[in-house]
Amino acid sequence: MPDLLHRPRRMRQRAPLRAMVRETRLARENLVLPLFACPGERVRREVSSMPGVYNLSVDEIALAAASAYDAGLSALILFGLPEKKDETASGAYARNGIVQQAIRAVRRAAPEMVIIADTCLCEYTAHGHCGVVRDGQVLNDESLEILARTAVSQAEAGADIVAPSAMMDGQVGAIRDALDGAKFEHVSVMSYAVKYASALYGPFRDAAGSVPAFGDRRSYQMDCANAREAMREADLDYAEGADILMVKPATPYLDILRQVRDRFDLPLAAYQVSGEYAMIKAAAERGFLDEERVMLETLTSIRRAGADIIITYYAHQAVRALSSGSQNR
Ligand code: PBG
Ligand code: ZN
Repeated sequence: MPDLLHRPRRMRQRAPLRAMVRETRLARENLVLPLFACPGERVRREVSSMPGVYNLSVDEIALAAASAYDAGLSALILFGLPEKKDETASGAYARNGIVQQAIRAVRRAAPEMVIIADTCLCEYTAHGHCGVVRDGQVLNDESLEILARTAVSQAEAGADIVAPSAMMDGQVGAIRDALDGAKFEHVSVMSYAVKYASALYGPFRDAAGSVPAFGDRRSYQMDCANAREAMREADLDYAEGADILMVKPATPYLDILRQVRDRFDLPLAAYQVSGEYAMIKAAAERGFLDEERVMLETLTSIRRAGADIIITYYAHQAVRALSSGSQNR
């Protein structure tokens, strides 16, 4: 028999011992639920590539927010499908735009909810790009003004946090300036600082009707091969006044999350995107994976890599699993 001094297995013998030495915890406070607001009344349309995710009319958004709050979730992020799209994304900053209505409805239905508004143009432009397009090019500086206007209108509607996701250079600074100029110094900016041009956004574009009509998003979203550039993006957003940094997608980019965590002291968010959700769902539906365990394992890994906040379509299922305590027994 070997004479082993160190036996890591000792602390793994029983569930309560394992729970005691668990290094990373996932809690409902970490989770943010995405919701998609659409026109109409009593609309609840399931997204074909995302079972369990719906396009909801504003009345249904209110119900969903109240039930999320009752379930123990305290934050959500809103996306909008406008009545009509145009070249200038006017639906993004309309006083009575779909997201602005949804924000007010959530505030009434669940007053304590932290309301995050995704700030981008792709859901509102006819061409589906995240910025203004001229001669087939996505223009940076021309887009900033519209993004800033959108953020201010979301703040006016009652958003606590605006989350610019267009990947335009200078968007955080432009939005911070505009918010301050409109007396919204107290509204925070959660920057999609490190957003990769990922094939994992496919199902989201079904949900939000935001497939680009031509080309792709590689002239503004990042190349998946780049890590140093991610630090540069985060540096810039930090300097421009971001309150929260985000890395997106999450699971394939845990190394990037860890590097951002080690380098910045700001709160850090990760977005477990539509394709990450759809992959687990599809495999689970075919009986290839244990959905709840894979869900908790991926979410815990994202926390372990350094995320404080996780935006996930699994938010509801995760709070349910957490309150049953199954992960510690
Ligand atoms: C809009 C936006 C996207 C996502 C969040 N905000 C789509 C995109 O960039 O094409 C992706 C979210 C997901 O896939 O779940 N800019
Ligand atoms: Zn966009």
